[in-house]
Amino acid sequence: MKKYLVTGAAGFIGANFVKYMLSKYDDIYIVILDKLTYAGNLGTIKNEIEDSRVEFVLGDICDKEKVSEIFSKHDIDYVVNFAAESHVDRSITNPQLFLETNILGTQNMLECAKQAWTTGKDSNGYPTYKDGKKYLQVSTDEVYGSLSKDYDQPQPLEITDEEVKQVVKGRTDIKTYGDKYFTETTPLDPRSPYSASKTSADLIVRAYNETYKMPINITRCSNNYGPYHFPEKLIPLIIKNILEGKKLPVYGKGENVRDWLYVEDHAKAIDMVLNSGRVGEVYNIGGFNEETNINIVKLVIDTIARIMKEEPSYQSVLKVPVEMINYDLITYVGDRLGHDMRYAIDPSKTARELGWYPETPFTVGIEKTIRWNLDNQDWVEEVASGDYQKYYEQMYKNR
Ligand code: NAD
Ligand code: TYD
Repeated sequence: MKKYLVTGAAGFIGANFVKYMLSKYDDIYIVILDKLTYAGNLGTIKNEIEDSRVEFVLGDICDKEKVSEIFSKHDIDYVVNFAAESHVDRSITNPQLFLETNILGTQNMLECAKQAWTTGKDSNGYPTYKDGKKYLQVSTDEVYGSLSKDYDQPQPLEITDEEVKQVVKGRTDIKTYGDKYFTETTPLDPRSPYSASKTSADLIVRAYNETYKMPINITRCSNNYGPYHFPEKLIPLIIKNILEGKKLPVYGKGENVRDWLYVEDHAKAIDMVLNSGRVGEVYNIGGFNEETNINIVKLVIDTIARIMKEEPSYQSVLKVPVEMINYDLITYVGDRLGHDMRYAIDPSKTARELGWYPETPFTVGIEKTIRWNLDNQDWVEEVASGDYQKYYEQMYKNR
């Protein structure tokens, strides 16, 4: 039986990963370590923590004693480090917290894993490790910086590599706004305090691999969306505001491009990297779905308006008449400082080596996400109680 230590699993992606793993494997044990910051919510994993295959530990990834205790109690096989401060806008307001959690926390997790897994030294003085262990760092495409947007209208993207083409079947909707993509060898060039902290974390993970031969992988994914997404990020914030008839704040001209990845596709990729990723390697995980923010916002408006008309019983979720769900809600607000123009991932290496590709087309994923939100308003209300209102006012009041 494999034992996993999953940090940050009361947050968006970590929770979806745990749900996916528990439904896929009977014979696993997962220890969740989460500090329950504003972004962590026990309600998100309430069924999972009642499962006999799961143990929840409240704690900080920076806490050496707490993390070592977990390794002493459990013979952990895989560490998956999701825990992080994850919102760019918050990193602009309070960069130091990002350095503490994202960099020092990562180093602490690595160090504790190293100590628990070391068996001795080889003839060159490098540590040797128990078999089958791996530390996986969940990173981001933002470490690569920002790409140029070369086209106003998206162009069809044709995959030419035959091997990749074989894997990426069933996706005929792939398009792009530019000529360049992030590959695993793109130089690291972070531009926000958030991405700088994630890059530093990646570098310390790499240093543990080079210096101590620690068995690691790094995955760098694009923007995720799906169930349990905290409503400070674009898509869940827009859905929430539409249902309440509130203005939809679009930064700048709304022309920045992100590559949207359905969260379950991401969970599958992490599982594959843990099982089959070559030790020491970085794997890019993208959605094959580049879109401008303004088009995302319009599509979400259109989809909600359509669902409300097709299934009027959903109108009970609305705080305003259905006629108000239209583009008049869009409000252009002051731009984010240092706003990265475009992210676009080339996941060919992951496709070629692991047989993974993002299966969920955006039109399918966004409908699932919206329906999940409509059906889970209790969850949205719960996570948006507390400090959320204060955050919203501070972030958007004078924009
Ligand atoms: P999230 O903000 O939704 O959740 C973060 C979780 O980490 C929360 O449960 C929080 O309580 C926990 N946490 C924060 N600080 C902690 C600490 N010091 N100790 C223990 N737990 C702590 O984040 P997410 O969107 O699920 O992102 C997960 C990971 O994926 C992050 O590392 C993020 O950088 C990366 N990532 C996210 C996206 C995305 O689109 N959301 C894209 C690329 C990469
Ligand atoms: P976000 O979800 O914060 O993810 P990231 O900054 O990591 O890409 O933002 C996605 C895009 O949407 C980004 O270009 C900023 C923009 N955005 C808005 O226009 N309005 C908003 O209220 C938010 C939160 C984001």
